[in-house]
Amino acid sequence: MGRVQLYLFVAVLGMMQVLLLFAGPRSKSDGLAGTAASNTGHGQNPRQSKEGLQWCPDCRGELCARKFLFIVATGRSGSSTLMNMVNQVPGIFLWGENHGALGGIAGMQERFLKAGQDSSDARRVELLQSSQDVVWEWLTPPTFQNDWKRVEVRGFKEIRWNETMVQFIRRSLPCSRLIFNFRLDVEAQSHSDFFKRKQRKPGAEALSTITDRAAALVTRSGLPAFQLPLENFSAPEFTRLAR
Ligand SMILES: *[C@@H]1O[C@H](CO)[C@@H](O)[C@H](O)[C@H]1NC(C)=O
Ligand SMILES: *[C@@H]1O[C@H](CO)[C@@H](O)[C@H](O)[C@H]1NC(C)=O
Repeated sequence: MGRVQLYLFVAVLGMMQVLLLFAGPRSKSDGLAGTAASNTGHGQNPRQSKEGLQWCPDCRGELCARKFLFIVATGRSGSSTLMNMVNQVPGIFLWGENHGALGGIAGMQERFLKAGQDSSDARRVELLQSSQDVVWEWLTPPTFQNDWKRVEVRGFKEIRWNETMVQFIRRSLPCSRLIFNFRLDVEAQSHSDFFKRKQRKPGAEALSTITDRAAALVTRSGLPAFQLPLENFSAPEFTRLAR
């Protein structure tokens, strides 16, 4: 991105943040704000309420009580900016990257499930629930955040994802939504300063493969996903996401 474009981009984002701060949540909608802030009054461990069903309409059971949101990004795709913007939406707090930490607990749970194949359904649900507890605690927003908004949806943005992690989300965090953030122009992405600093920077072709793989992972997850390429960052598009 050229310098002038970058300044313009930052200016537009600044405007959007200001607009969002004044927009506030809507009561009935399919976007993030209306669904995120709708489940108030349930404390740290909100049970599924009628309004809460908007976040994960097809989810049933205790595991659906907590809401999660994850940004699946391909790198140099504007994901930090996107995360900062999402964090302006009432009711949501996302952490930055964690070096694929979810993969650790996901891999461990997979091995426990395999080892306990003969155990009862109740035991299995207990395992899924206790893993959810760990992730929920782990994603507790910083206290300053709680000072100015009530957080009902927790999550993070990450560029490192694999099938094990997505399957873990399906099993243990079924009331989750994804934002898939990528770049349509992989040629420009491959020329980003970040990739230039790397010893073996991925070319446009490799980035294209990375993007396709991530897209397939998001599709296979079966979770509600909002597609947001960097090129489509715009005030109307973000309003559509935040609504
Ligand atoms: C995904 O990553 C985690 C942690 O790095 C690992 O334990 C797991 O085996 C990986 N799964 C796949 C399918 O590569
Ligand atoms: C990006 O924006 C263009 C033009 O508004 C639109 O046609 C396209 O569907 C969008 N792509 C995604 C993935 O949202």
